[in-house]
Amino acid sequence: MAILLRRIKSLDHILAEADNKDRGLRRTLGPVALTAMGIGTIIGTGIFVLTGIAAATKAGPALTLSFVVAGTVSALAALCYAELASSVPISGSAYTYAYATLGELIAWIIGWDLVLEYGVGAATVSIGWSGYLANFLESAFGINIPVRFQHAPYDLGSAGQVIHGFANLPAACIILLITLLLIKGTRESSIVNTVIVIIKLSVVLFFLAIGVGHVNQVNWHPYFPFGWSGVFAGAAFIFFAYIGFDSISTAAEEAKNPQRDLPIGILFSLALCTVLYIAVVAVLTGITKYTHLSVPSPVSYAIISLGHLNWAGAIISVGAICGLTTVLLTLMYGQSRILYAMSRDGLLPRGFAALHPVWRTPFVSTLTIGIVFAVIAAFTPIGIVTELTNIGTLAAFILTAIAVVILRRTYPAMRRGFRVPFSPAVPVLSALASFFLITQLRPFTWISFVIWLIIGLVLYAAYGRSHSAVALQERAAGAGSTRGS
Ligand code: ALA
Repeated sequence: MAILLRRIKSLDHILAEADNKDRGLRRTLGPVALTAMGIGTIIGTGIFVLTGIAAATKAGPALTLSFVVAGTVSALAALCYAELASSVPISGSAYTYAYATLGELIAWIIGWDLVLEYGVGAATVSIGWSGYLANFLESAFGINIPVRFQHAPYDLGSAGQVIHGFANLPAACIILLITLLLIKGTRESSIVNTVIVIIKLSVVLFFLAIGVGHVNQVNWHPYFPFGWSGVFAGAAFIFFAYIGFDSISTAAEEAKNPQRDLPIGILFSLALCTVLYIAVVAVLTGITKYTHLSVPSPVSYAIISLGHLNWAGAIISVGAICGLTTVLLTLMYGQSRILYAMSRDGLLPRGFAALHPVWRTPFVSTLTIGIVFAVIAAFTPIGIVTELTNIGTLAAFILTAIAVVILRRTYPAMRRGFRVPFSPAVPVLSALASFFLITQLRPFTWISFVIWLIIGLVLYAAYGRSHSAVALQERAAGAGSTRGS
């Protein structure tokens, strides 16, 4: 165990690997594309879908404060990510930072957590996407997707009733489509992403512009129907809405100037989304009584329920569908790059790191996650995957904050494009804040997470521990010294 914590991948080696231009990824992303990537991942199912359930069942109008709490936790983590991404600008995100600081075992655990964040997160978003699609097809064209093909088995309806679905087919299909787009190449994907992000931002501003004139302050009373405990439970649930700014750090090897542009992308995208979220939730709960918001498409529902604005509701639905598509694009992009980094390090079979001969994308890892998470999206209810995503992400945030403190001590002089202010106080606060949100999730989620970790550790013991590149180097060095003696 202690050996595995000491088994560190040297930073010099990590940086040299990224500089190997012949076999590396193409550098095509600038600050605008990176910020768009952040916004593309952040604004999605959290605001368009989960807000309604959270207002109705967890926090009431005080959900606005839940967004402030979750936004603060995310901002602390974003500062840590910004420092690490500007110091270790390599694909793989928190996983790579941990490898250089906390050792191989913790790095593996973070990588395994990130599968929850990106992969299970993508499944969550695809289920939200499917809900908006069904809603739009029905209201615009009168087309009904059969209920059994819209829901996973034992899914819950908006009134808490069990829906006996067979599989959520639209959710699985959109994941497979995005997979094909990503295999085709980052450049095309990032252009598509930037265009759709503009549409998504326009739709959010459109909702605010229309909604603000219809706010009825009576709807904000009572403001705390579930007390402060509801505010915190709501924060732990809608934390999902903030996930995604860290996906920018998975694109480090495709960034043109990572040390300057990664912190810009991370901090700017999070700040913008936080402001928009707080405004959207205040307006949403101001135009519709919170008790009515537990529906699959609460944002367009709120506008439609005003009575004379069906056209505006339809525009919002289309924008939401586009918006959720970009979230999927960036989450799945991030997941494939993390898998790529892990297999390049030998912790997963090296076949995952194979690049496509023409498009230079990690097509094996992309295709694998596409198939696995399409299946999960088809057969799992949204409440379960949401909380699993949150706990995996918060666990990765905690380890990332610790990595900042350690890296400051082990490599004090290294070039950092961005530095967390008041370190180590801010990273420690970040870790504690993330842990606090974990305590607000359901016990079912904690237990599932522990089982997930145990599966990960078994896999590591069976494969990664003996196949990792660092382990092979250690063995070669050991054999060399034995022969030499
Ligand atoms: N933050 C992203 C969303 O809400 C993952 O969909």
